[in-house]
Amino acid sequence: MKAPKRVAVTGAAGQIAYSLLFRIANGDMLGKDQPVILQLLDITPALPAVRGVVMELEDCAFPLLAGVVVTDDPNVAFRDADYALLVGARPRSKGMERKDLLEANGAIFTVQGKALNDHASRDVKVLVVGNPANTNAYIAMKSAPDLPKKNFTAMLRLDHNRALSQLAAKTGRTVDSIEKLVVWGNHSPTMYPDIRFATSNGDALPKLVNDDAWVKDTFIPTVGKRGAAIIEARGLSSAASAANAALDHMRDWALGTHGKWVTMGIPSTGAYDIPADIVYGMPVTCKDGEYTLVEGLDIDAFSRERMQATLAELQGERDGVKHLVG
Ligand code: NAD
Ligand code: LMR
Repeated sequence: MKAPKRVAVTGAAGQIAYSLLFRIANGDMLGKDQPVILQLLDITPALPAVRGVVMELEDCAFPLLAGVVVTDDPNVAFRDADYALLVGARPRSKGMERKDLLEANGAIFTVQGKALNDHASRDVKVLVVGNPANTNAYIAMKSAPDLPKKNFTAMLRLDHNRALSQLAAKTGRTVDSIEKLVVWGNHSPTMYPDIRFATSNGDALPKLVNDDAWVKDTFIPTVGKRGAAIIEARGLSSAASAANAALDHMRDWALGTHGKWVTMGIPSTGAYDIPADIVYGMPVTCKDGEYTLVEGLDIDAFSRERMQATLAELQGERDGVKHLVG
């Protein structure tokens, strides 16, 4: 039997966590042979609700669940954590953009970044889900100077999965036949889902779609505004699909993508003319617990314009949190 991995999850009383924790404990993230210890963080008034979730976890009798910690102290939640899923933050409501949450949520990530810096495993893999996810990941990374920057990522996998579904519906191909899709930039309506390199069973996807107007006027805005459409329809922000994307992101990072491209929000090292440290959606492959950027892709004029627009938004968000990261 493998030694248990410590998985910290913040916002443990929230709606995403309710779709996430049971699947982590069931082995959907790290594999059916990997025991886990869940280290659950929420704010003090939410702890009774977290304890209720823990009762349900116990009642599932998951063979892989080797322990549960419940706390309102980030220094306890992140102690020796191998994985940290930073979900806890306020969601937006109707009429708000995700960046409107910066003021409310930004400060959470300075505290949590510092706690990760001081207490987590040096190899901790951090996924920020709480919005605005890219800039919150940037804040956490900047607040953890003793950890490698590459340990901090933001979730664009939901956007990637949304794009896959739209493309499958348009082409009549299956979602799992589609490869080499990229979602560049910010988890916001400025994101750029790029199908130029995508294939389905080896066929060039742009040829299968064969409809530039649909790509520009329907596909790109539909993916970009999907979160708002769900809030409008449900009255609540996406939860089960967000949890599913978080599992996909962490599972692929930990266990590998076997050559397939996936989108992760990663701190730039300067590739594709994205300034260093900006956390930006990029194509990666994963192997042996490390992600590798897919480099050298051709960027045409339309793509460059889109990539600049989403970069400009991220630079604005970064400038808006200067006071938090020093
Ligand atoms: P929710 O309101 O149901 O739950 C949030 C939880 O976080 C609550 O239990 C709250 O008490 C807790 N929390 C607040 N401050 C905290 C802190 N300092 N430390 C620990 N926990 C804290 O919200 P939700 O629907 O689960 O969404 C959580 C976040 O995820 C939101 O910011 C939402 O916008 C974001 N989100 C991101 C994506 C993405 O694709 N990146 C997708 C969906 C939702
Ligand atoms: C989503 O994309 O569903 C989430 O980021 C929630 C939101 O505010 O859109």
